[in-house]
Amino acid sequence: MRLFAIETSCDETAVCFLDAVEKDGGDHKIEVLSHILISQAEKHAEYGGVFPTLAKREHAKNLVPITLKALEEVGVEKVGDRVMDKNDEEKIGKILEREEELKESFIEEIAKCGVPDVDAIAVCVGPGLEPTLWVGINFAEALSVLWDKPIIPVNHMEGHIVSSFFDNNTLKKFPMPLLSLLISGGHTELVLSEKQNDYRKIGSTRDDAVGESFDKVARLLGLSYPGGPEVARLASLSRTRAKKIDVRFPRPMIKDDGFDFSFSGLKTAVRYFVEGKNLTDAEKEDVACEFEDAVTEVLVTKTKMAILKHRPSALAVGGGVAANKNIKEAMTKMVAELDFPVSLHIPKPKDATDNAIMIGLSGYLNSMQKDYGMAVYEIRADSSLSYLKN
Ligand code: KG4
Ligand code: ZN
Repeated sequence: MRLFAIETSCDETAVCFLDAVEKDGGDHKIEVLSHILISQAEKHAEYGGVFPTLAKREHAKNLVPITLKALEEVGVEKVGDRVMDKNDEEKIGKILEREEELKESFIEEIAKCGVPDVDAIAVCVGPGLEPTLWVGINFAEALSVLWDKPIIPVNHMEGHIVSSFFDNNTLKKFPMPLLSLLISGGHTELVLSEKQNDYRKIGSTRDDAVGESFDKVARLLGLSYPGGPEVARLASLSRTRAKKIDVRFPRPMIKDDGFDFSFSGLKTAVRYFVEGKNLTDAEKEDVACEFEDAVTEVLVTKTKMAILKHRPSALAVGGGVAANKNIKEAMTKMVAELDFPVSLHIPKPKDATDNAIMIGLSGYLNSMQKDYGMAVYEIRADSSLSYLKN
């Protein structure tokens, strides 16, 4: 199956073409034919987080150029004299009526290209920022009319889970039962799957998501957005030398019986500690290190509790924060010390943060589960989408 996939749920605009085919034994062979991603992170840096109106505008601006590039990479060229069907033009005009600039460049550029050889268009429908999700969905709908292909709606969080099983051109069959820890800028959740396409949330954050707390702490330390990689960089510098300051932050809810999380108190503790102090670089590194240790300890302890209770065969860690080296090492150690086997699946850092490949892979798996020829009008953005199928 060949798919075109679109991701616009937050501040990354991404599209890809991929080929997927099931192999004997249940793994899938994946060939990414083209993947183009534009990160808007720098544009949002001055706001210290994602500014939805700006994100929506940027997605609308980026989608046509990155799709043209992807089309070029799969060998589809502009056909100068291609004339669009009048009916299609009218439909596309209506679909993109709120995206004037996107509509113009779509008709001027995309509609003048040949039709790629794809079976469907996968698009992220949530969770995420509603206005930015709609840009991706409207673009997918316009392409669906132009290319006469069905749309497969994809859940962003499911995409993060699927990413954990993708490596080296292979999408592995998920071992079941599966426990997934999803840690991103918007989510922190523990999800249990007894079988394919079955997701039960057993715990989530009551306030800030882990990635959000990394971003907020980064701001307190004067670092740029997105803060996760920056905080991690400082923390690793602190780990290479003797500590300069004695600082200890709380491990929120670590002794609690349930699987919920809370990170806003931890961020506040960091704020109280740094406020009014003129910290040296080395002291900032120690603060970043202690913060990262606190987050890691909470995540590992809660995940271990969930493993001991539900005894899954596999643990998947997905979402942007899964790119964190310290968390990865601590999870690896925890799993190795269990007295029963649990396989650990963590994506490579570049596959952990938002991208279009995860949307394509998830769309492909969805298409195998049910009839994917959904009518276009059934596809809606849902900012707080839980799981499409329960
Ligand atoms: O999954 P993602 O790309 O977007 C959302 O769906 O939210 O996650 C982005 C989050 C940001 O908060 C970013 O700071 C965090 O992932 N992040 C990291 C690292 N790389 C990205 N956090 C900690 N350590 C990292 N190495
Ligand atoms: Zn994400």
